[in-house]
Amino acid sequence: MTEQVRKPLPHDSGPLHVTGQARYIDDIPLPANTLHLAFGTSSVARGTITSMDLSAVRSAPGVVRVLLAEDLPFANDVASAPVHDEPLLTSSRVNYVGQPIFLVAATSHHAARHAAAKAVIDYAEETPILTVDEALEAESYIEFPPLVWQKGDAEAAIASAPKVITGQIEMGGQEHFYLEGQAALALPQEGGDVLVSSSTQHPTEIQHKVAEAIGKPMHAVRVESRRMGGGFGGKESQGNALAVSCAVVASLTGRPAKMRYDRDDDMQITGKRHDFRIDYRVGVDETGRILGVDFKQYTRAGWSQDLTLAVADRAMLHADNAYLLENARIESHRLRTNMCSATAYRGFGGPQGVVGIERVIDHVAHELGMDPVALRRVNYYADRPVDAAEGGSAPRPAASPRSTSSPVMDLASRGAAGAFPVEGNPVPATEGQTTPYGMKVEDFILHRMTETLLERSDYAARKEAIAAWNATNPVLKKGLGFSPVKFGISFTLSHLNQAGALVHVYQDGSVHLNHGGTEMGQGLFQKVAQVAASRFGIDMGDVKITATDTAKVPNTSATAASSGSDLNGMAVKAACDTIRDRMAAVVAELHQVAVEEVTFTGGKVLAGGNEMSFAKAAELTYQAQVSLSATGHYRTPDLSWDRLKGAGRPFFYFAHGAALTEVVVDTLTGEYRILRADILHDAGASLNPALDIGQVEGGYVQGAGWLTTEELVWDDKGRLRTHAPSTYKIPACSDRPRVFNVALWDEPNPAQTIYRSKAVGEPPFMLGISALLALSDAVASCGTAYPDLDAPATPERVLDAIERVKHA
Ligand code: MTE
Ligand code: MOS
Repeated sequence: MTEQVRKPLPHDSGPLHVTGQARYIDDIPLPANTLHLAFGTSSVARGTITSMDLSAVRSAPGVVRVLLAEDLPFANDVASAPVHDEPLLTSSRVNYVGQPIFLVAATSHHAARHAAAKAVIDYAEETPILTVDEALEAESYIEFPPLVWQKGDAEAAIASAPKVITGQIEMGGQEHFYLEGQAALALPQEGGDVLVSSSTQHPTEIQHKVAEAIGKPMHAVRVESRRMGGGFGGKESQGNALAVSCAVVASLTGRPAKMRYDRDDDMQITGKRHDFRIDYRVGVDETGRILGVDFKQYTRAGWSQDLTLAVADRAMLHADNAYLLENARIESHRLRTNMCSATAYRGFGGPQGVVGIERVIDHVAHELGMDPVALRRVNYYADRPVDAAEGGSAPRPAASPRSTSSPVMDLASRGAAGAFPVEGNPVPATEGQTTPYGMKVEDFILHRMTETLLERSDYAARKEAIAAWNATNPVLKKGLGFSPVKFGISFTLSHLNQAGALVHVYQDGSVHLNHGGTEMGQGLFQKVAQVAASRFGIDMGDVKITATDTAKVPNTSATAASSGSDLNGMAVKAACDTIRDRMAAVVAELHQVAVEEVTFTGGKVLAGGNEMSFAKAAELTYQAQVSLSATGHYRTPDLSWDRLKGAGRPFFYFAHGAALTEVVVDTLTGEYRILRADILHDAGASLNPALDIGQVEGGYVQGAGWLTTEELVWDDKGRLRTHAPSTYKIPACSDRPRVFNVALWDEPNPAQTIYRSKAVGEPPFMLGISALLALSDAVASCGTAYPDLDAPATPERVLDAIERVKHA
């Protein structure tokens, strides 16, 4: 067999990426008369515009057109939310610093930006609503009343618990810092149609918003996206304003229009990860079993709704993470504040919910003096029985490419050997175990994964060694942090769980592949091409990966929720199988064999002892006047979800992972380093172990960055003070763990996904939580009090926590 799936092939654009030849929006050659756009933005966070003098803007060199809200030929809305609360240009009210007020079209990017800065605008300023407390005080909500989901009776369970612990954690937002900023280009076509190139995760939404803006049906707008230089959720909705601006200017002037945000503008205008404050109250018994837990989640949504409802819902959906909670109450406040509108970011609220429960566990372990991993295992859901693994027919993947000696597959098949037994705590049966939102948990595997990770990372011995180190070293303190993740896969707006594909086979046997997914560096195009090559039994070189194009595959969902390969892989499989079956019928007819006897492998088509090349079979199919082109469609089965009740089955399955991180902290300065991280991540039967490991490594580092060095600072006027890499610190190469052991858990997905693989884009992000927990552990060794460490745990916050712990 020449299956291309499961091979650790490099990213299809790898050589182009590293040689600078990969083409992004800013690299597309422009027609000579192209206009370049820039926004003039609000310098105050809340108020009304009292006067505006744009004469200097209009007379600045190179300026061709200046547009205000009243000049727009459409309803002035670029919201992705159905509430239409995002004008492209605001007319009198300003809601945050950086809000677009007018649009400049000029002959160059710099001319447009310089002109925009010349506006003289006066405001009647009002006191902005910035903090959680200010928003609560003002009852400033995106959705009211706050959503509450319940299972059992948390109040009663906490009241009667032997021990009750309360606390609070704040976690900051996060700038996406995609290396390619937001960008779009609109080329006018005949008859007023427009072709848009956009750095977007959601070409169909760009098409939809552009069509609305230029007053045309969607068929008049074609959106193309070859790749993004990173999206991370920041290009699900935030590209609308740029694409719409370009299309509007193109349709008003008949000239091509291009817009890209300068980095500072990008950071001030566009939304980021939602920051959260979580208040918790938990009742536990002597063994550490959580009897009842109450969460109050508060998030600052910024000025408009955007994707906040779904993000905050997902935070609630992940308030349990890996733990069976019999009595839980989760209350969620979505607060409207005078800041940029928070948006999707890898994990989509999930990480914030997970940090909540992981903090609870960390706090309980400290109070009870229990090993935090043992405490986690006391509360885990029960594993699915080992031999109940369906999908046994799916071939086992090869060992992950970087593990030299023992593939994790071997260790896993040993089952739950008692390397780290939890005494006196019988594991509950999977039977009847449900999440706080009533979904059965039937595919849990974290007991086995944890077992294996602890063994591979030598947990017990290292824990002892660190205790010994901390006992003898007064300045440098080490800490260990363990965190698991169980992440729900599917869009929670159920109808989004569908995808389409368009596949052509040419007469020479070469294949043109198109689907609705977008490429943002995650390797989706390569994985899906591996699926196509596998269906036809041909080489990767015979499959052409092409740009996402709304004229080829319509009505697509954003490439998001980690579902890109699940959905598009299945749609492409369907399209390929349709063509393959037609080819098989032609070949069967020719050789007078049954269709079932025709097989496609090794670039050949075999039929009852006869053999021909795939190319020959394609040529014959063409000559038989049979179509070599097909669409494919896929919808995820078995989903149901009521978001107001918080009940149903919102996910097709869960993806799992576990990480152990070791840090060292300088207790005199609060500075720290990640010394080592060991990760085991569940990618099902991986479609491509090399790309999946890349996702796990990148996700971990990005997650750790969120909780350690990446700090967004708004001043009391609502101005973002950290709007460039000089002040906003994403992890650099040198910040990666010194020892970084990443392996995949090679076990086919019991759910019927494409080749039994699992989504891998977002789940590993949450493994970075182990870095925060490791810092907490190191700080805890400085005294007896609980460190109460907020995130991001910058060196300043770590130093503060050390002082608190020392002097408690
Ligand atoms: N990896 C890279 N290199 N760049 C990205 O922008 N986005 C993440 C993740 N991994 C991202 C990434 C996010 S937010 C999601 S939802 C998934 O990829 C989307 O792609 P997938 O569905 O194909 O996994
Ligand atoms: Mo990812 S946050 O779902 O784009």
